[in-house]
Amino acid sequence: MDNKGAYSLKEAAVLQLARPVLTQLQPFEPALPDLPIEKIQQQLGQNRVVKLSFNENPYGPSPKAVEAMQRELACLHLYQDSKGDDLRSAIGADLGLEPDQVILTNGADELILLVALAFLEPDDEVLIPIPTFGQYQTSSLIMGAKIIPVPQTDFRIDIENILEAVTSRTKIVFICNPNNPTGTIITKDELDSLLHRLPEDILLVIDEAYIDYVTEPSCAFGLDYLRQRENLLLVRTFSKIHGLAAARVGFGISNAPLISLLERIRPPFNVSRIGQAGALASWQDKAYFRKMQELNAANREYLYTILEAAGMSYIPSQTNFVLADTKQDAGGMCSKLAEFGIIVRNAAGFGLPQHLRITVGRKEDLDRLGEALQDC
Ligand SMILES: Cc1ncc(COP(=O)(O)O)c(C=O)c1O
Repeated sequence: MDNKGAYSLKEAAVLQLARPVLTQLQPFEPALPDLPIEKIQQQLGQNRVVKLSFNENPYGPSPKAVEAMQRELACLHLYQDSKGDDLRSAIGADLGLEPDQVILTNGADELILLVALAFLEPDDEVLIPIPTFGQYQTSSLIMGAKIIPVPQTDFRIDIENILEAVTSRTKIVFICNPNNPTGTIITKDELDSLLHRLPEDILLVIDEAYIDYVTEPSCAFGLDYLRQRENLLLVRTFSKIHGLAAARVGFGISNAPLISLLERIRPPFNVSRIGQAGALASWQDKAYFRKMQELNAANREYLYTILEAAGMSYIPSQTNFVLADTKQDAGGMCSKLAEFGIIVRNAAGFGLPQHLRITVGRKEDLDRLGEALQDC
């Protein structure tokens, strides 16, 4: 074992068998902010932990989703519907799509991996506006593709920079809208402009994990662009506003030919019986969804006031987290906050060593954050 707990492969004979690209990858080794809250409580030796590092829904799932999942427990000896027809139909009906335009995956993470498996050959180029969610890079590297990081401007994805980076080898462009960790959006005008100029033979993947939190009317919604472009895939998840992160349900939306390609490599039964039932009940509970939207918008404003009171600046967010500038090395502040039982994300991992990414918690969680910040 090396000092992080990952098994060192340096001298292992099995290395000879593995694809060489694996030597460039590291296993996910959870640090304190990546642990489940029960483990954080154990490690810190305190029960009053507020976890604001994972962009989870602090209110939990809809009670109707919980009931639906409980009903499935006695049926766990029976395989579920492998494609999740009921859930795909419900999503399709509400979004004006045919069921064959929707694919269910084991979280959005699995969808991103399936995209890489389906499309990437070694040395294909993948454009990734940075800083952003790490799985686009990890999944692309697994396939031996070449990552082309595209700089953002003022913490916003820059369409011109993307277009400048396009070459004849570009296979995929990943866009996270709104973006993690900045919380910023791309506008309809920007996406219009990108779609007009991005060559048709490049796959555009728009990750809309946080789209349900958007309150800004100028934000681009990928659904409005599906008819314009065959090579467009939208990534969605039940992990955020639906509060079902551990149920592991994500879904992709596209035109039928692209979904059909992904279906060829999707592992059958990838979304559990419990996950499907919870996601369907949550999808149908529109009142809960709207309540979560309202609470997040109000709590996000409240978080701004707390950051201002602590003398920190922040980037106005369209998500359930806020990127705050500590104007110092943020690592020290993270450790200090952890002593008070408040866990936030050090944005150093995104290349932003002065920033914290803070999930929009409940008002009482944010009050505790505010108190702790006074002492930092
Ligand atoms: C932008 C983005 N996409 C995808 C995911 C993964 O979501 P899931 O839990 O559905 O795998 C996350 C999780 O934080 C995310 O931030």
